[in-house]
Amino acid sequence: MKWLHKDLLDVSQLSRPEVMAIFETAGRFQELQERPVKKVPTLKGRSVILFFAEPSTRTKTSFDVAGKRLSADTFSLTKSSSSLIKGETLKDTALTLQAMAPDAIVMRHWCSGAARFLSRRVECSVINAGDGRHAHPTQALLDSFTLHQEWGEVAGKTILILGDIAHSRVARSNVLLLTMLGARVRLCAPRTLLPPAARSWPVTVYSDLNEAVRGVDAVMCLRLQLERQQDGLLPDLREYARTYGLGPRHVELARPEVKILHPGPINRGVEINSELADCADSLILDQVSSGVVVRMALLFLYMTRKGEM
Ligand code: CP
Repeated sequence: MKWLHKDLLDVSQLSRPEVMAIFETAGRFQELQERPVKKVPTLKGRSVILFFAEPSTRTKTSFDVAGKRLSADTFSLTKSSSSLIKGETLKDTALTLQAMAPDAIVMRHWCSGAARFLSRRVECSVINAGDGRHAHPTQALLDSFTLHQEWGEVAGKTILILGDIAHSRVARSNVLLLTMLGARVRLCAPRTLLPPAARSWPVTVYSDLNEAVRGVDAVMCLRLQLERQQDGLLPDLREYARTYGLGPRHVELARPEVKILHPGPINRGVEINSELADCADSLILDQVSSGVVVRMALLFLYMTRKGEM
């Protein structure tokens, strides 16, 4: 398959065969992670700018590791280390970065649509590492890749996405991708943390966690985005943890060996019981490992616009 896309702004741009090509490429890079020397010269001489205007541990570091393992030169820019804090606009930032002729820019920004804005102003590939509440395509790809590795097939499985859906770009991208791959998706959240648009998504919506979790194959807990809460949406954190925090009694209602996912960072004891986050059926750290190989696959495909190694 020849890779035709310049940018990755959301998973809606991808077809099922393209998602499978990303998984296949990531699967081949997985073998590299087990070698003593984890580096190949595939992207030698190419450069990637990691422009993160919001905090990140997993996404930024895994793109950095991914780029370096492919021998690309990676350059980091954060909000506090950039001229954004001096009032420089995103347009001028885009033109400035473009003038340095990178092969790709990976961007996280607090505004929905920021990645699209950037992609229209630069010639290089833009990979969206999270824009406002809109999308987090690389997270959704690594989540589905993790489940695909675990089960061999996501189609036919029932996956519950639980928690702060209103503020979650992870939930939006995951609903698109999981349904495209043939999974049945359930959402569970308090009414104040459920966007009205969710009622028209191809999902089943629950407000009672005991009902929502019954018979599911996997639960994806979402981080409660305390920094994005508006007054009145969440009057009592302890009440939220009691009603919507995933605990052992919920897991008993799900299918045996139900898989637990969380994009991180975790608020332990709020959206998920701490022991459950560390249990044998938790895939949380597998998600992090998948993040490296999926992002290696994406850098390879987008920076070479090839589909074969
Ligand atoms: N899941 C995720 O995007 O984590 P970071 O904010 O640490 O990158």
